Amino acid sequence: MRPPFLPAAAAPPPPASTPLALLLLLFCKVLAPLIPGPEDECGTRPLMDEKVTETRIVGGHDAQLGAWPWQISLQAFDFSMGYHHICGGSLINNNTVLTAAHCVMERLDPYFWRVVIAVKNLYRHKPPTVVSRIRSIIMHSNFNRSSLENDIALLRLMSYIPYNDYIQPACLPKASLAVTDENPCYISGWGAIILGGLHKHILQEAQVDIFPLDICNQADWYAGFITQNMVCAGTESGIIGGCQGDSGGPLMCYFPNVTKYYVLGVTSFVSSEGCSTPKRPTVYIGTANYRDWIESHLAINKNNAASISYLFIFLTVEWVALHLVV
Ligand SMILES: *[C@@H]1O[C@H](CO)[C@@H](O)[C@H](O)[C@H]1NC(C)=O
Ligand SMILES: *[C@@H]1O[C@H](CO)[C@@H](O)[C@H](O)[C@H]1NC(C)=O
Ligand SMILES: *[C@@H]1O[C@H](CO)[C@@H](O)[C@H](O)[C@H]1NC(C)=O
Repeated sequence: MRPPFLPAAAAPPPPASTPLALLLLLFCKVLAPLIPGPEDECGTRPLMDEKVTETRIVGGHDAQLGAWPWQISLQAFDFSMGYHHICGGSLINNNTVLTAAHCVMERLDPYFWRVVIAVKNLYRHKPPTVVSRIRSIIMHSNFNRSSLENDIALLRLMSYIPYNDYIQPACLPKASLAVTDENPCYISGWGAIILGGLHKHILQEAQVDIFPLDICNQADWYAGFITQNMVCAGTESGIIGGCQGDSGGPLMCYFPNVTKYYVLGVTSFVSSEGCSTPKRPTVYIGTANYRDWIESHLAINKNNAASISYLFIFLTVEWVALHLVV
């Protein structure tokens, strides 16, 4: 598509106040009716039969193509390796990926990255796999590398990704959702999910338990390091959990009452003792408490940031021109 420059004939000579007025107008438009209604279409797995998942999946194993239709692989480019997998992420609308801030903090230039969607084997891209470059990276401005708080980021994609059986957006909770035995929770990623496992080329999935904060913060667990904005999940033995390469990827739980999966966490860190240490489950950034942050940035994305930036250039030029004339 070509940038939406106004045709000359349609543009009456603007009064001097136009640039500011237009900017304000844009600003108001941006703040208006924002949320892309994630309740409408999200969190479903068209190719999976949810009724069969009665029994607990023990251990980690290969996921089927289409098992987690919002899971993406975030890949960075370098000259020696080409594109290679760095982190996971979740598609939250047809233009935006949710991931962890620490995944992108070293390379905030979108130029380095691409997102691969609907892929099972990282070494084999074939339909329905879709690849998109990234237009912009929004890292949480209060991400703290020592306390690991606010480890969350959004990636706005260069293209709009049409949904199909293999590509669906994740649901995000509006508020904290209570998870009970009725709500099986899963993790997925290309990291090593099983003790001693290698970095995987095939997407892995595993069922995990969510540990309440008071358990996860016990003296012989994380001893108070875990905040209200984090979620601990894994198995008590520590055998199953996220590991290197899983960062940014989803922790998701099934809610039979709405027949949807909600992404409750974004894979963030484990204790430096290693991925499979008892009482050191994987820690996720809890999405419930970031709903406002996410929505405020989705809003800006949704109002067609492409045309906003073109307009911005246009107005800036006009602004300069007006001043030159005066
Ligand atoms: C980051 O977290 C550390 C440890 O909790 C704290 O001492 C520091 O002040 C925080 N930094 C910022 C910029 O908030
Ligand atoms: C992306 O989503 C927007 C808003 O929901 C919609 O208008 C647009 O048609 C979608 N594009 C594609 C390619 O699915
Ligand atoms: C579904 O269940 C969850 C908790 O189990 C609850 O928080 C949520 O409100 C329920 N949703 C509906 C639509 O009933």
